[in-house]
Amino acid sequence: MSHLVERLSLRGEGVTGDGLTVALALPGEEVEGVPEEGRIARPRIVTPVVERVRPPCRHFASCGGCALQHGSDAFVAGWKTQVVERALTGQGLGASVRPILTSPPASRRRAVLAGRRTKKGALVGFHARASEVLVEIPDCRLLHPDLMAALPACEAATLLGASRKGALSIALTRSEDGVDMAVEEARPLDTGLRMDLAALAETHDLARLSWNGEQLAERRPPRQALGRAHVVPPAGAFLQATEAGQAALTDAVGTALGGVRSVADLFAGCGTFTLPLAATAEVHAVEGSAPMLAALDRGWRGTPGLKRVTTEARDLFRRPLLASELARFEAVAIDPPRAGAEAQCAEIARSDLARVAMVSCNPVTFARDAKRLCSGGFRIDWVQPVDQFRWSGHVELVAQFSR
Ligand SMILES: C[S@@+](CC[C@H](N)C(=O)[O-])C[C@H]1O[C@@H](n2cnc3c(N)ncnc32)[C@H](O)[C@@H]1O
Repeated sequence: MSHLVERLSLRGEGVTGDGLTVALALPGEEVEGVPEEGRIARPRIVTPVVERVRPPCRHFASCGGCALQHGSDAFVAGWKTQVVERALTGQGLGASVRPILTSPPASRRRAVLAGRRTKKGALVGFHARASEVLVEIPDCRLLHPDLMAALPACEAATLLGASRKGALSIALTRSEDGVDMAVEEARPLDTGLRMDLAALAETHDLARLSWNGEQLAERRPPRQALGRAHVVPPAGAFLQATEAGQAALTDAVGTALGGVRSVADLFAGCGTFTLPLAATAEVHAVEGSAPMLAALDRGWRGTPGLKRVTTEARDLFRRPLLASELARFEAVAIDPPRAGAEAQCAEIARSDLARVAMVSCNPVTFARDAKRLCSGGFRIDWVQPVDQFRWSGHVELVAQFSR
């Protein structure tokens, strides 16, 4: 029996009219296959659409690291733009949506890999699609070459730190000073393991190595350029996924807040937007993680010529900045996690602010929060979609609001 794929889910998988999930299928395609637990895992594509292309990566058939290599770049760009537009229309909102800015292949500077010991040695890679099985990725087209060069270090860490049963998690971040590796779910440290890991960091020239949350070696502080400042984030801390993505988001936030002299940067992280904005505006950076703010503050103090930056550790879900507290700023930059910022947007809607730059990694919660701002008198001037998770179902965006 054949099935018609009608749309893509937000994970980039095909969905049929009767609600079956079909991996690796595109809208308009007729597919055959055996449904199991609501999905067709190995579909036979009966009528391919013209948007279908040969996946650029040889691992794509099995690796779960990418979801959408079988659609052309133009198709994926169009689909991600539609995801943003539909989320807005779903809330009764319209906006001018700019052409999406997509990061190039081989530019991911952050990735979490899994490592498992095998009879022969160690296996490091991504999980297979919808599976616990690990797939090796020696020819991955997603990761930056500096992360690919760190795969032997990941294998060495897996040999030392993984049990026979479980997989360990290896977060790799490219920095200006080499690779920053943070291993979790690994064997507890003892004296011998500490010495072996220090030697591993030396042999593989890692900038920093952390193990189950403890920093073991910092051979060079792993700095990230945020505007003119250089920040050393805590191990495993949030950072935009590609340099091109960070640049696109930062440019859009800068455009949205052009000319303002005082900004509250909410969910500020290590200062991705705070520090570039501080070239021309005083910025109050608010964020839940005190170690991230400490890194931001050190970066600011080490950079002559920036305007004043202050920091405040605060849970913005429970204790959003109140409308009365927002009164001292000319504008807000806000970049919440996937859950969005419902409580904070209610306060912004109540405030007298005239300009907001909202950054989001989830169009659905973005549209919900945008509606709240619009019900407080804001309009959406434009939306800039940014795709730094190439070949995945994710899309990010920046929007300018004013009133
Ligand atoms: C999408 S990241 C953005 C970080 C930063 N703007 C950047 O671009 O690098 C979201 C940030 O929100 C912070 N966060 C998560 N939940 C929070 C909460 N309840 N209150 C305050 N900050 C929170 C995270 O620590 C993270 O730094």
